[in-house]
Amino acid sequence: MDEMIESVGIDLVEVKRIEKILKKWGEKFTGRVFSEGEIIYCSKKAYPSIHYAARFAVKEAFLKCLGVGIGGGIALKDIEVHNSDDGRPELHLHRNAKHILKDRGITGTYVSISHTNHYATAIVIFEGGFGSK
Ligand SMILES: CC(C)(COP(=O)(O)OP(=O)(O)OC[C@H]1O[C@@H](n2cnc3c(N)ncnc32)[C@H](O)[C@@H]1OP(=O)(O)O)[C@@H](O)C(=O)NCCC(=O)NCCS
Repeated sequence: MDEMIESVGIDLVEVKRIEKILKKWGEKFTGRVFSEGEIIYCSKKAYPSIHYAARFAVKEAFLKCLGVGIGGGIALKDIEVHNSDDGRPELHLHRNAKHILKDRGITGTYVSISHTNHYATAIVIFEGGFGSK
C-alpha cells in the first residue's frame, strides 16, 4: 500500500532572537540544542545565526508534527538536520526522537527550510503512521 502523509508541522523563527541567545549563552546554547554536525555547518557560514535559526525552526516544526512540545521527552539535539552534497536538508534522528517515530509507525520524514536575514522557516512532514494502514 502507498504510504500516506501522517502529519505536518511548520515553524517560523526570528533570526535576531537566536542571535541574542547565541551572544548571551554561546556554546552552552549550541552544545545543548544542536548536534556537532549542525554546529560545524552553521559556524562555517557567513551569518551562522540564520542557519542556527533555521535548524531551531526545524526542531520546533518536528515537535509540532509529532504533537508534543519542548520538554515532551525529546532532546532538541536528537532532531538533527543534515545537508546532502547538493545542500538538500534531511532529518537524522537519534535516541528518543528515533524510537518515538518507530513506535508511531512513521516510515519517512521530509523537511524543507527557507530563510532571509530576519526570519527562518521550516516545514516537516511525516509519512506512514498506523492511521494509514
Ligand atoms: C535550493 C535553492 C534554490 C535555495 O535557494 P534560496 O532561495 O536562496 O534559499 P532559501 O533561503 O529559500 O533556502 C535555503 C535552504 O534551502 C535548503 N537547500 C539548499 N539546497 C537545497 C536543495 N538542493 N534542495 C532542497 N533544499 C535545499 C537548505 O536547507 C538551505 O538552508 P541551510 O543552508 O540553512 O540548510 C538553492 O540553494 C539551489 O539552487 N540549490 C541547487 C543546488 C546547488 O546549486 N548546490 C550547490 C551547493 S555546493
